[in-house]
Amino acid sequence: MSQQNTHLSQQLGVFSEISSQVEKLIERHKADRKLWYPSELLDVEEREELAQQAQALPGAVRAGLALNLLTEEGLPHFHRLIAQHTGQDSAWGYWNNLWTAEEDRHGVVLHDYVRDAKVLDLLALEKLQYQYLEAGFDPDWKQDPYRLVAYTSLQEKATQFSHANLARLAAPHEPKLQHILSRVAADEARHHRFYRDTFALLLEADPERALQAAWAVMPKMAMPGHTIPGFRELADSAHQAGIYGPHDYAVIVRELLGCWGIAAARGLSHRGEQLREKLLLLPERIQKLADLVTRRKTQSAGPQNFDFLPEGV
Ligand SMILES: [Fe+2]
Ligand SMILES: [Fe+2]
Repeated sequence: MSQQNTHLSQQLGVFSEISSQVEKLIERHKADRKLWYPSELLDVEEREELAQQAQALPGAVRAGLALNLLTEEGLPHFHRLIAQHTGQDSAWGYWNNLWTAEEDRHGVVLHDYVRDAKVLDLLALEKLQYQYLEAGFDPDWKQDPYRLVAYTSLQEKATQFSHANLARLAAPHEPKLQHILSRVAADEARHHRFYRDTFALLLEADPERALQAAWAVMPKMAMPGHTIPGFRELADSAHQAGIYGPHDYAVIVRELLGCWGIAAARGLSHRGEQLREKLLLLPERIQKLADLVTRRKTQSAGPQNFDFLPEGV
C-alpha cells in the first residue's frame, strides 16, 4: 500500500470511529434547522412589483449577488468530493445528501430572484455557471478527508459572512433580497457549526494529523468558484463593497482556532508542537496581509464592468 493510501485509510478509520458522534451532530442540526423552500420566499404574483423595486439596487450589490450565486452553483463539485470519501452507507453519506438538499435551495432561490427581479443579465451569468461546472474542480485535498472538513469549516463561515453582508447592503434598497440572503446565511451558519464540531472530533481523536490538515488548508483558502472566469475581479469588487474580503478571513481563522482549542492542545510530538505554533501565528499573519491588500486595492480602486450587469448600472 502506498504512503498516500495508508494515510487515506487511517483517516477513514478515524471517520468511522467517530461516526456515532457525527450522527449526534446531524441530529442536533436537524433539530435546529428551519427548512424553507424557494417558492415560499418568492411570490410569482409579485414579480412586476419586485422588478420595479429592485431597480434601485446598486451595481456593487448586483455584482456581489452574481458572485454569491455562482459560488452556490458549484454544489455538484462539492457533493462529489464528499461522496468520494464517505460513500452512501454511513452517517457521512446521509449528511452529504441532507447537506446537498439544503444547499441546492440556495442556488435555486438566488437564481429565481435574479430572474424575477431582472437585476442581472441571466444568460451571461448562466454561461459562467456552465463554464464553472464543465471545468471541474480538483482541489489538492481530494485524497485527504481531514482537509475536506477543515476546508468546509472555513468555507461555510465565509459564505455566511458573504450572504449576511450582502443582505445588509441590499436592505436599504430591497427588503426581499435582504430576507432571502438572511435565510441563506442562517443555513450556512448551521452548516459551519456541523463541520467545525466534526473537525473538533478529529482533533481529539487524531490531533497530529488533524493539525497537519488544518495547516495545509488555513494559510490560504481558495474560495469555491475561484476557477470561474473573471473570479478575481468579482472577488475584488466584493472586497471593495464590504461583502467579503481578507479581513473577514482573518476573523474566521482566529475564531476557528479559538473554538478548536488549538492553543491548549497537549500531548503532541515535536512536529505537532511546531504546527500548533505556526497555526497560532496565522491570524496575525493573515491580518497583516489583509491590511496590505486593502491599502493596495484602495489606491487602485475603480469601477468594475461585468458582462452580466445590465446597461447603465
Ligand atoms: Fe450555500
Ligand atoms: Fe452551506
